[in-house]
Amino acid sequence: MPRPHQPPVRIAIVGAGAVSDYHHVPGIRVDPRACLVAACDSNEALLQRRRDDWSLSYVTTDYERICADPDIDAVVIATPNCTHRPIALAAAAHGKHILCEKPLGLHAGEVREMYQAAHAADVVHMTAFTYRFAPSMRYMKHLLRTGALGTPRHFRSQRFLDLPETSWGWRQYKQQAGAGDLFDMTIHRIDFAMDLLGPLQRICGAVARFAPRTMTVDGQPCPPSDVDDWSSIIGEFTSGAVGVWEGTTLAKGYGLQGFGHEWAEINGSEGSAVYRLHEPHTLLVGRTGQDLAPVFVPEEFLRPEGSPRDPHAGVPATVFRYDLIWEFVSAITQGRPAIPSFFDGLRAQVIADAVLQSHHQQTWIDIPDTAP
Ligand SMILES: NC(=O)c1ccc[n+]([C@@H]2O[C@H](COP(=O)([O-])OP(=O)(O)OC[C@H]3O[C@@H](n4cnc5c(N)ncnc54)[C@H](O)[C@@H]3O)[C@@H](O)[C@H]2O)c1
Repeated sequence: MPRPHQPPVRIAIVGAGAVSDYHHVPGIRVDPRACLVAACDSNEALLQRRRDDWSLSYVTTDYERICADPDIDAVVIATPNCTHRPIALAAAAHGKHILCEKPLGLHAGEVREMYQAAHAADVVHMTAFTYRFAPSMRYMKHLLRTGALGTPRHFRSQRFLDLPETSWGWRQYKQQAGAGDLFDMTIHRIDFAMDLLGPLQRICGAVARFAPRTMTVDGQPCPPSDVDDWSSIIGEFTSGAVGVWEGTTLAKGYGLQGFGHEWAEINGSEGSAVYRLHEPHTLLVGRTGQDLAPVFVPEEFLRPEGSPRDPHAGVPATVFRYDLIWEFVSAITQGRPAIPSFFDGLRAQVIADAVLQSHHQQTWIDIPDTAP
């Protein structure tokens, strides 16, 4: 168990790209116990921009320097997927607490190594499974735990995005990303399904690629994508419940102000509940003889306990993402494991890998026990 750490928690960002700017830096700004002290990125021009935008004096292209710095307590790793493993191993070797973006690695072998290193170093380790923090998701979990939905029977997840068919950069190459929609989007839904309903025991998966993505956004030719842009799973949970997932980045007409369509549903023996990303302050709830109807998420589920974030300020589908940092820093200051941990990242990765295996072998896959 990590020892409690007195604030401030001095955090360095490694990977100063989109998600750091959109989720993690605003999260650090909201948390009075956290302090952003450094940023690292291999792109010099971006780094200089971030130095000004994030008001930093300490920027570097060398993540080893960040990891070895005794004046840094924790790192947020938000780089391309293929770099998570070496950065996390370096951070663990120097005793830094680690919040790492999903997918933790390119396959479960890498992720297990990261989990074991962080565990052995006794640091707080957390996987950035963002959607667990959506207020309606937290409330759905509460309804399930308190029996309001009865025995869960079916889980259903749809994540439909309407993204341009130009290059995804590093995300469109297996060597750097591991997989496409499956590792980028569906892995979140695998994680929250297991958080709600427990482990999966058998899955059958399929992936497909439709867009070649041979042009960059500014019209330059580039090598074609070799990853999926559609992914799907049928699964059986050890509890006896069943689940169906579908994700795509090619759903024309599903813009929804940039948030896309997300629908995640549980049908229990007593009732159904539906989480939708673009309206995270309401849950659709229904019972036999009724139609699904919106229910406001009670105030205590709108933000984590103790957080000073005003849940009524900002765009609801954006601002709950800041709560990841609140959980990470709470775990560090309280000396407890963070939720979701690297173990949750491993558990989800095992399923995502099994989807690819199922697709290639055209068969159902029994999920091995994911013991730590
Ligand atoms: N949790 C979520 O909801 C969510 C959302 C978006 C992205 N992500 C994840 O976050 C990670 C980053 O995604 P992004 O959209 O910010 O990508 P991005 O391409 O915008 O940013 C990645 C940054 O990492 C830098 N980088 C690359 N190699 C590096 C190295 N060795 N050392 C230091 N910096 C390096 C790049 O220059 C770039 O600025 C990915 O793993 C992605 O899957 C998660």
